[in-house]
Amino acid sequence: MSSKIKIGLLGCGTVGSGLVKILNNHKQVEIAKIFVRNEKRAKQIAKDLALDLAIFTWNIDDVLTDSSISIVVELMGGVDQTKKHLIKALENGKDIVTANKDLLALEGDDLFAAAEKYKRTIMYEAAVAGGIPIITTLKQSLAANKIICLQGILNGTTNYILDVMKKEGKPFAEVLMAAQELGFAEADPTNDIDGHDAAYKVAILASIISGKRVDVNKVYREGISKITKMDINSAQKRGYEIKLLGMIFNNEDKLDARVHPVFVPLDNPLASVGMENNAILVKGDASDTITLIGKGAGSLPTASSVAGDIMILISKESSEPNPLQISNFTEAAELKNIDEVENSFYIRISMHDKLGVLRDLGEALFRHNANVKFIDQYDVHGSEAHADFIIDPIQEKELRAIVKDLEAMDSIKAVESVIRVL
Ligand SMILES: NC(=O)c1ccc[n+]([C@@H]2O[C@H](COP(=O)([O-])OP(=O)(O)OC[C@H]3O[C@@H](n4cnc5c(N)ncnc54)[C@H](OP(=O)(O)O)[C@@H]3O)[C@@H](O)[C@H]2O)c1
Repeated sequence: MSSKIKIGLLGCGTVGSGLVKILNNHKQVEIAKIFVRNEKRAKQIAKDLALDLAIFTWNIDDVLTDSSISIVVELMGGVDQTKKHLIKALENGKDIVTANKDLLALEGDDLFAAAEKYKRTIMYEAAVAGGIPIITTLKQSLAANKIICLQGILNGTTNYILDVMKKEGKPFAEVLMAAQELGFAEADPTNDIDGHDAAYKVAILASIISGKRVDVNKVYREGISKITKMDINSAQKRGYEIKLLGMIFNNEDKLDARVHPVFVPLDNPLASVGMENNAILVKGDASDTITLIGKGAGSLPTASSVAGDIMILISKESSEPNPLQISNFTEAAELKNIDEVENSFYIRISMHDKLGVLRDLGEALFRHNANVKFIDQYDVHGSEAHADFIIDPIQEKELRAIVKDLEAMDSIKAVESVIRVL
């Protein structure tokens, strides 16, 4: 009889097939069963990965109730049905490894409650930033720190689009279409470009950092579809890159967790992270700042994180509650409302080129106590001109009042762009 730890795999697509390759002939672990949709898929995958057809099943209970299997690895995606399957696996005494960020962000409270009830562990390194070991870094390496803040490029698709817009000087819609043709963006890109995917990851990270459940629907979210070539040019001119960042500030009073585009100064390590890469900058009270950069997706990088979780589980010596599972998903965290958050802002306006416009603008900003870092007037032709400026940190609600005032001014044609500055 083999003494290897037996695992059951649910789903064998991009990440699942990467895991099969990594665990091929592994000394301690054996993939005992793989659940797929039907026999036809089983035959195809068995052939592609040179596996014995006998280890495949299209009845999920063959995996969930097999007493020889101690770890169920979920790599099929989905939320409601998948949650039911994983709770059944926990009931049957199995630990779980998953890469499913949607499931954890939306249903993590029930799943972790079930894990606690059945004294099992759920590991999910691959759910955030694919191949970058951020969860283990937070839960183990930085476990003695209070995490002060975390800022990260957590979505490869949007980082790719912004980078190509900058390098090729093309507008958002054109770059998105090309990214879809190249397979860097989904046919329905909403999940990525509107920031939902990054928000799921922020909710998971914020839960770990705060030790409380963070409701993904309360994470403030803005995507990149409004970013224009002009925004990118202006950022470059001033020494910034525009990035979609997931940000968590672990304040004394309330947690500040959000996703939105940001002007990132060129000397910040996140500014130089291009294409579909991910990067995370995390600051602990003792560790100071650590930056992790790597592949946020892909078959082998993501499977590397899944395999790492399996290794951590099998190194566990007893069945006592696992100290690695430190998140408390049952106590709700209070999130800071975006109105109370302070940011510095880049603002661009178009205006009528006439005497006194800049004075009116200055007076409007003065009324709101907004301190201007610089102001630049350009592109003056005919009766129209543009100006852009950066203001020092003010509350978001104050910013909205400024924009409203500016839009109401006769001398200003439009507020063309408002972007937060790091
Ligand atoms: N791809 C990445 O780089 C990456 C990175 C981080 C996290 N993740 C997460 O990892 C998980 C897997 O992603 P993936 O990219 O490997 O997806 P994928 O390539 O679509 O693979 C999913 C596999 O699960 C199977 N499956 C889905 N629903 C099923 C069901 N109800 N019954 C039976 N089989 C089912 C699919 O079968 P069919 O092919 O027959 O439909 C497919 O083989 C997802 O939660 C994803 O969010 C992925």
